[in-house]
Amino acid sequence: MADKIAANNEKKQKVLSLIQPSGTPTLGNYLGALKNWKDIAEQYDCAFGVADLHSITVRQEPAKLREQVRNMYALLLAINLDPEKNIIFIQSQVPTHAQLAWILNCYTQFGEMSRMTQFKDKSKTHTDNINVGLFAYPALMAADILLYQANFVPVGADQKQHLEITRDIAERFNGLYGPTFVVPEPLIMETGGKIMSLQEPTKKMSKSDSNPKSFISMLDKPDMVMRKFKSAVTDSDAKVEFKKGKDGVNNLMGIYSCCTGKTYDEITAEFEGKGYGDFKVAVAESVIEELRPVQESFEKIIKERAYLEDCMKNGAEIATKISQRTLDKVMKKIGFYQFKG
Ligand code: TYM
Repeated sequence: MADKIAANNEKKQKVLSLIQPSGTPTLGNYLGALKNWKDIAEQYDCAFGVADLHSITVRQEPAKLREQVRNMYALLLAINLDPEKNIIFIQSQVPTHAQLAWILNCYTQFGEMSRMTQFKDKSKTHTDNINVGLFAYPALMAADILLYQANFVPVGADQKQHLEITRDIAERFNGLYGPTFVVPEPLIMETGGKIMSLQEPTKKMSKSDSNPKSFISMLDKPDMVMRKFKSAVTDSDAKVEFKKGKDGVNNLMGIYSCCTGKTYDEITAEFEGKGYGDFKVAVAESVIEELRPVQESFEKIIKERAYLEDCMKNGAEIATKISQRTLDKVMKKIGFYQFKG
């Protein structure tokens, strides 16, 4: 991935990504996205956001949503994203997102939106609330990305289709009105891009899973992390190797590899002749060590309410200023009325 960015690095490339504040993020969010954000934040022009407008496509309890947004913002600072060097904002505090989303809705076809697998999945799990926002969600996500003229979007594999539709919308608009948007590329980690459920390893690890044993939350305490890994589903082979059909073990190997930097061959060699029990303990310990500094930092930052709010305000102000430039350009091209004076 670093090569991909370096190849395009004549001038500083822009990177953008957001995360929904619907519950505490999981180890999947962390290894698939956040850890990656932290790694690239030092070198690129980055904007990161808390996607609260996206979260209301599913019903949220107001007080809880407010708390989750604050926690998510604090977690972004806790993973060491520097608010002085990166734009870190809350989506609902930057009005350009909803404005451009409306416009992009009008450049997106019903048919292409209907093909989005996330919409199909979510409409199955929220049968009582299949709202228009849930359907139009990808146009808002496209607005998030295109407003900042992002070259790269670091996400997990589940967001690939949304990135494809974003590219299609950008190319369509550019084709109609001339160069307006940078056409972004997804950055998906080969290992970590899709962390699976610990209980049903053919399903992605998700914070909205009804079985809490299936996911590790980024704020789970060490003993909880250990317990969840000990009860992770594996198989009856008792051999630690990465192989088709060994979904549970493959997933644990991916997690261990992300946290230790070891290759699959090195992991297989390390656990040669040992059972899954030892392996699971080692995976849990690597995750505990990975999350420890984040958790410690989170505990401090979450108490500094005034500092947090300063960062939020500042982030929203800069994000609004930057994104307004793209919105102005779009509005002018479309033919919205412009004052002469
Ligand atoms: P969200 O909030 O569901 O997830 C945030 C990020 O975590 C990644 N992710 C995973 N990666 C690996 N394994 C998993 N099990 C796993 N689960 C989640 C997601 O791919 C994502 O990168 N629509 C987005 C939020 C969004 C966004 C954007 C992202 C809104 N606007 C603009 C990028 C650019 C979402 O729901 O992510």
